[in-house]
Amino acid sequence: MTTATLHMPMPAAPDVPVRHMDFSEDRVNLPRYFYDNDPFASSYFLAFSAVIPHGERFFMESVRNYRDQVRDPGLQERVGGFIGQEAMHGKEHDAVNDAYDAMGFPLRKLDRVSRGGLKLLTRVTPHRFQLAFTVAMEHFTAIVSEYTFRHPTIQAKFTPEARRFMLWHMLEETEHKSVAFDVYQSTGGSYFTRVLAMIVSTGFLIGTLLLFQLWILAVDGSFGTVLRHPRGIAGIYGPRGLWASVFRPYLDFFRPSFHPSHHDTEALLIEIQDRLFSSQHGELKNQLKKTIMPRTRTMAAA
Ligand SMILES: [Fe+2]
Ligand SMILES: [Fe+2]
Repeated sequence: MTTATLHMPMPAAPDVPVRHMDFSEDRVNLPRYFYDNDPFASSYFLAFSAVIPHGERFFMESVRNYRDQVRDPGLQERVGGFIGQEAMHGKEHDAVNDAYDAMGFPLRKLDRVSRGGLKLLTRVTPHRFQLAFTVAMEHFTAIVSEYTFRHPTIQAKFTPEARRFMLWHMLEETEHKSVAFDVYQSTGGSYFTRVLAMIVSTGFLIGTLLLFQLWILAVDGSFGTVLRHPRGIAGIYGPRGLWASVFRPYLDFFRPSFHPSHHDTEALLIEIQDRLFSSQHGELKNQLKKTIMPRTRTMAAA
């Protein structure tokens, strides 16, 4: 992604459909290392997966706390879609995490640590900060998704099952990337709290992923392999790796006038929606069980 993708005016917000998926057949015979047959990169994505179920519940709750203050019917509908999509992500990642736990990875232990950390965050911070934290984390998922969509060589390194699962989640992250931000802005969220939350969430995310990844590698006994074949380390942390590649779009968040739709992903969404869900050639047409379009809730009295 380049700054060429950062422009005005904003495109209309996309629909946020709730897709009910069934990935159970894709979870049969999961490979131990599903990215480039590489323990380091695979453990990194597993660490991501470990934080997702409770992370998604935290995000849903933080938006729900403000739902009744949202006056715009269009945004109300997108909030319904956001909650539905994140609920499905949590459920499906729970199932994947269980499958990897059964293979000897410490996913259930990591799940408990993640739940404890987010419970503490809920207890010690006000609702406004929790929503800002969600806004910040949604920025991470949006920029990593866009980067992955624009780099087919990265997609090709996943096994087919892992790739379509990841693309489904990333597609929906892109569809709803503005929802928490719009709720935050429309209910009076400040720039200061948004930036503070981004600084805290950056430390939280980097620290948690690193801890979880080291834990997974230690239990897996694969430190030796990682050190002998460091390509996975370069792919995540190297100067041309994942985090270096999304650093500029990450910084855009700190502009006072920033809005997620300034990173224009309209054409990408159409392309990935067709690739995954076309009734003729969709890679996920068999996993899609039904799609629900959320309706506007009864508005709270003004
Ligand atoms: Fe999600
Ligand atoms: Fe999300």
